[in-house]
Amino acid sequence: NTVESGNFQWSAPSNIALVKYWGKKDNQIPANPSVSFTLNNCKTVTKLAFAKKESSISLNATSNDFSFDLLFEGKPKKEFKPKIQKFLERIEIYLPFIKDYHFTIDTENTFPHSSGIASSASGMAALAMNLMRLEKELNPAITDDYFFQKASMLARLGSGSACRSIKGEIVVWGNQQNIPGSSDLFGVEFPHAVHDNFKNFQDTILLVDKGEKQVSSTVGHELMHNHPFAEQRFAQAHENLDKLIEIFENGNLKEFIKVVESEALTLHAMMMTSMPYFILMKPNTLEIINAIWKFRTETKIPVCFTLDAGANVHVLYPNKDKGIVLQFIQDELVGFCQNGQYICDEIGQGAVEN
Ligand code: PMV
Repeated sequence: NTVESGNFQWSAPSNIALVKYWGKKDNQIPANPSVSFTLNNCKTVTKLAFAKKESSISLNATSNDFSFDLLFEGKPKKEFKPKIQKFLERIEIYLPFIKDYHFTIDTENTFPHSSGIASSASGMAALAMNLMRLEKELNPAITDDYFFQKASMLARLGSGSACRSIKGEIVVWGNQQNIPGSSDLFGVEFPHAVHDNFKNFQDTILLVDKGEKQVSSTVGHELMHNHPFAEQRFAQAHENLDKLIEIFENGNLKEFIKVVESEALTLHAMMMTSMPYFILMKPNTLEIINAIWKFRTETKIPVCFTLDAGANVHVLYPNKDKGIVLQFIQDELVGFCQNGQYICDEIGQGAVEN
């Protein structure tokens, strides 16, 4: 190939799962299908500079010899290098040219550092997009479908949920009978009808605890091996995804709330009933959940919560209720957030080159 050097920049968003991915098999194959809303504002922006190595160097390269520098917010970040190294090792068989280049990966997040918001989904998605962009430069004939599907497959190998941060507003990852094209290997845009109730759906992320994660997702997924409720849980995820197919079509927000809140609590229930066991919610997580339930009962406004593997709360609600819900959040929920911090986000489209 003749591409000597250059650079690309892609940004990729975070996503929030409605049906949760928790438990995996070898090679980042999910134990159950999941579905997420793609976010819009919480993003990783990654610049990839590449320069072809001298041929004598690349001939001498040994199999573990990737050459890259990593900058986070403009400064070298040694701590992130092993994760990137492992990622490159996993994807090399799909992108053999990566050994021929030296890379400088320059990355930053739009959300505050150590906010307790996982940046692995957006970070791995942004890096996968850049590397695919280089493949396209080397092979301009590849189609858009191939480009995005392979980007999602690569992102999955970096961090499972990252495959849902590539393209589309609602993304499904994992084989599911009623979802044509769905795969364990990559995320696909939700292919069925979606009611207007979900248009510009809002996600306000309440930062309850910005500390380091108590349980990494790697450890978390492992907890599902030999978990007493694993098989039931995996079956339930399929059922909940089936319910959501119908709910997305008919716009029934009452039913949506039931599935989404139950999924969030089940995720935490799995952690509470594994060995070793963990409680990742904080007292303020429960205060917020109770306040949301009270507000919903009193106002009938269809606002609900979901949770990641941590204490922060994602508050989900229709765009048309934005004014009143934001007022409620400011009046009654901000007091439960660390330093009063929260992030307003909404459904977005996926990764973009910029
Ligand atoms: O992508 P991972 O391995 O970091 O796992 C993410 C797991 C959850 O965020 C808890 C659920 C999900 O589906 O995103």
